Amino acid sequence: ATHASLAEKDCMSITPPYSALIQKLGRVRKILNRPLTLAEKILYSHLVDPEKSLSGGRRIRGEANLQLNPERVAMQDASAQMALLQFMSAGLTQCAVPTSIHCDHLIQAAEGADKDLKRSIVTNQEVFDFLQSAAEKYGIEFWRPGSGIIHQIVLENYAAPGMLINELMLGTDSHTPNAGGLGMLAIGVGGADAVDAMTGTPWELKAPLVVGIHLTGKLNNWATPKDLILHLAGKLTVRGGTGRILEYFGPGVASQSCTGLATIANMGAEVGATTSTFPYTPNMKAYLNATRRAPVAHAADKAAAQGFLSSDEGAEYDEIIEINLSDLEPTINGPFTPDLSTPVSQFASFVKSQGWKDEFSAGLIGSCTNSSYEDMTSVADLARQAKAVGLTTKVPFLCTPGSEQIRATMERDKVTSTLEDVGAVVLANACGPCIGQWKRDIKEEENAIMSSFNRNFKSRNDGNPLTMNFLASPTIVTAMSFSGKLSFNPMTDSLTLPSGEPFKFTAPSGQDLPSAGFSTGDASYYPEPMPKPQPTVQVVINPDSTRLQLLKPFSSHFGPDTENSRGMELPPLRILLRVRGKCTTDHISAAGPWLKYKGHLTNISENLLITAVNDEGGAVNQAFDHERSTSGTIPEIAKSFKARRQPWALIVDENYGEGSAREHAALQPRFYGCAMIIARSFARIHETNLKKQGILPLWFADKADYSLIGSGDVVETIGLADALEGSPTASIKIRVTKLNGEIFEISTKHTLSEDQLNWLRAGSALNFIRARMNG
Ligand code: F3S
Repeated sequence: ATHASLAEKDCMSITPPYSALIQKLGRVRKILNRPLTLAEKILYSHLVDPEKSLSGGRRIRGEANLQLNPERVAMQDASAQMALLQFMSAGLTQCAVPTSIHCDHLIQAAEGADKDLKRSIVTNQEVFDFLQSAAEKYGIEFWRPGSGIIHQIVLENYAAPGMLINELMLGTDSHTPNAGGLGMLAIGVGGADAVDAMTGTPWELKAPLVVGIHLTGKLNNWATPKDLILHLAGKLTVRGGTGRILEYFGPGVASQSCTGLATIANMGAEVGATTSTFPYTPNMKAYLNATRRAPVAHAADKAAAQGFLSSDEGAEYDEIIEINLSDLEPTINGPFTPDLSTPVSQFASFVKSQGWKDEFSAGLIGSCTNSSYEDMTSVADLARQAKAVGLTTKVPFLCTPGSEQIRATMERDKVTSTLEDVGAVVLANACGPCIGQWKRDIKEEENAIMSSFNRNFKSRNDGNPLTMNFLASPTIVTAMSFSGKLSFNPMTDSLTLPSGEPFKFTAPSGQDLPSAGFSTGDASYYPEPMPKPQPTVQVVINPDSTRLQLLKPFSSHFGPDTENSRGMELPPLRILLRVRGKCTTDHISAAGPWLKYKGHLTNISENLLITAVNDEGGAVNQAFDHERSTSGTIPEIAKSFKARRQPWALIVDENYGEGSAREHAALQPRFYGCAMIIARSFARIHETNLKKQGILPLWFADKADYSLIGSGDVVETIGLADALEGSPTASIKIRVTKLNGEIFEISTKHTLSEDQLNWLRAGSALNFIRARMNG
């Protein structure tokens, strides 16, 4: 790419087709005949067939299955591997929608940007070669290592008000909704869903409920948009947004910067929300202009004037949450879960009450959540104050810029040097410590870190389960890094200078957008927009690779069609394990060192459920093989079931698969022979991923039944065929044969649509797509 391609990008139309969308919305209005929320407008205007999806006078939100046409797919390097391997096996020559690949998750932080980038490129060369060659072959925009973090690049280049993006976010995050900061719907999906979009198959989503979040008042003093979402996470918990779009409205929206809104939308993922969005604001327009997208801003202005980019007067929400921004104070969430929320004024006593040491070992700022120009100029303000009195940070202080554009602008405007003056190390424009790509020289002992990131499951940042990871705004993290103490409240407390004098920070102030405009930085990081596919390019996969492996299609668990049955009952399944409590996609398919096997199903499957707790005995990573009277690690027992062709099932707890869109968390159990998972409840994306891979997800009708079924028991579905054929919401019974011979039945529920049923019968969604392509 050259400067020429950047100039081309300036005038290249990436404007959503507003007139077509508004026209389709007209059809929607005729059917629904009621005021619509903004989320509904964007979703329904992207329906393949509004009449089919919405007619019949039934309830839509929370019930209808929507068939949608997303406008774009974006994939990061860890998840793109499996998605591309799947796409390749569908046999197409190019992607059906504009698609991009972003090399950000595989860059390991250790010494600082340049060295880390060089080293990580060498260690991951074969993966980057594979991704680049596939991108060339299929006409995909390839953002090479160092270009930035996927969500930041999407916000800067692709996002536009009113658009619908399927941004593929596997790895350990689902922060696609970040782009909602520009008033669109960006929804995190698994690799298999991305493949749907890339193959032009309509993408299916159960119409989410819409929660209205009414913002009044004004943020003041140290409070930032991050504090709003940290506060909301405490209120809603990690499950509160499941099956819901969070739609913000009210006078408090327009006073936020576009990037501040992106931070809020980004962390909607922490409450399990499908996505978050905001009505179009003048600050969004300013951001579009500042990022060289004046034509998009112009078109959005026109679409807004036609009422497309905000909710209708009188639109009804499924629930309304009131937040007065004037009441918010900085908030610190964690450790180990993003919904444990403590206002900074109470944090010192919280730390004391827990008996934790009053210290932390590192401060980390930046990432896709918080590396906007506003964030960085705000922390630079604090750094300047500290430098003026001769202070430097007390703990290692690491800063991750979100993109080359942010990095170059920070450098030009002396933000970087200001931070370095007080001890900051600037890392590569990549995920780094946020995703566990952090080479840290500390013992595996209890310690705390403060970060401005978004997610804080155990072991996420440095692989150490004893690292307590607290989330806060970049300014709170920065100010606290000058103290090194968890109890330090920069709003009220003073630091002691070497002279013995007290020093207190004044509330930081930042700048929303750079006065001199954004610097694009190194133009070679920008790919050619929408490149032409090159069918003659060979995709690079070494047959001996330990990191990349071509996929073999799964065979269906369901029986063949017979005269009396359409082959929709499962064979008897043995229970491998009853999983206790929180089981996120990190528990099912750990990240950190395993990221290197993302493209190799056999190798990565060795991490299956290795941090899950077995409810029978309470041990981590232990499973029982009752037929053989042995026990072993979960992958060991799963592998031995596979070896003796014993299909199996899991019993799991609440919100199973929360956390990310990582499809490996569905592929791996499938690879070892899992056919069904019965849960107290599922996280939405993961439940869909299971269906895509041909695993039947069922919900206990009575959650107390969870404890009735244990390892070694045999379960059989009764009436699956009838229930699915007769009424898709009918109950499916499970016959349980306990190890002691006792037999009983329990009821379950399911969320399968007709299409999803086809995936199950074909063995996977991909099998179904391939069969359809082949006629
Ligand atoms: Fe990367 Fe962390 Fe965001 S892993 S995409 S920086 S959530």
